[in-house]
Amino acid sequence: MHQALLPEHLTRLSDEETDRRTTEIRDRLGSRLVVLGHHYQRDEVIKFADLRGDSFKLAQWAATRKDAEYILFCGVHFMAESADILSADYQKVILPDLNAGCSMADMAALDQVETCWDVLERVTSERIVPITYMNSAAGIKAFVGRRDGAVCTSSNAPAVMRWALERGDKILFLPDQHLGRNTAYQLGFRLEEMTVWDPYLEHGGNTARALIDSRIVLWKGHCSVHGRFLPEHVDQVRAAYPGIRVISHPECRFEVVQASDSVGSTEKIIECVTQAPAGTAWAIGTEIHLVHRLRNENPDRLIVPLDDCGCLCSTMFRIDPSHVLWSMEKLLEGEVVNQIAVPDDVARWARVSLNRMLEITH
Ligand code: 13P
Ligand code: SF4
Repeated sequence: MHQALLPEHLTRLSDEETDRRTTEIRDRLGSRLVVLGHHYQRDEVIKFADLRGDSFKLAQWAATRKDAEYILFCGVHFMAESADILSADYQKVILPDLNAGCSMADMAALDQVETCWDVLERVTSERIVPITYMNSAAGIKAFVGRRDGAVCTSSNAPAVMRWALERGDKILFLPDQHLGRNTAYQLGFRLEEMTVWDPYLEHGGNTARALIDSRIVLWKGHCSVHGRFLPEHVDQVRAAYPGIRVISHPECRFEVVQASDSVGSTEKIIECVTQAPAGTAWAIGTEIHLVHRLRNENPDRLIVPLDDCGCLCSTMFRIDPSHVLWSMEKLLEGEVVNQIAVPDDVARWARVSLNRMLEITH
């Protein structure tokens, strides 16, 4: 979908005026509007969120908050799509800037996934269960729903993998190889039991034997933000701050997760750091806005990014105060701009895989 240019009058407003108008319009929209915000959003945006969360919490809320007419989603495209799929028909989901995509989600195209599936079905008679990370397009979620698979997020990936293993012999894990590998390893699989499927190579770059022998087929996708952290960053931060505890997101490389003291989804990182005693020191391997916010909100703990390697999610950053104001202004005028509406045939099956995830208890 094409993103229209921001109206001229909004580009000339000062930050203070943008903020003042957004507060005023938000108040006037009242309970007709709910604003959802992912933890990686910048402070000037997330302060307008009625509900803040990681991608799992935000999906849960979208599935249960059936009161608001509009859901303004301060996050990225695949999250807004999921909110649209899980919300009621009469609710409209708005992504303030349609350019807020996700490079990881773009690494798995439906035709590539279909090719992979056909090859896997040809080489093995085993039962394959597909799992897709929330960070994928609605079409991939629908593909997975049709084939008796489920969605997972970083906070429930072990539970969803266990669920899949009760139903099949092999897992096709899309599209984040790191989350898939870290989770499977945590569940006791050896690295030799996993293989990587490269969508740009014949047979994913595997022999038929390798595909038959592996229990977990990992799609070759990654997060361009978390993928920047390296094991040497863990060594460097430990040398700079003796005794510091390192916690990293499971989208980080296997070697980084292994070198860390703990691993956790965005929500788990927040819980660990905020519940730790005052005086503790933390190096956090995740998106920089969350790390800065944790540091500012917990001045009695030492909190540093695992590395200052530019770990900013540029697509999350596209949601800025001007686009938030624009979307709200238009709602007040009775016009919906930047709506995310997943076509019914896709939404129907994507809802199946999303609801399976919501039903799987930890
Ligand atoms: P969670 O919100 O599941 O921690 O995922 C992090 C992320 O990269 C979102 O895009
Ligand atoms: Fe995508 Fe990574 Fe940004 Fe999350 S942090 S939206 S996975 S690029």
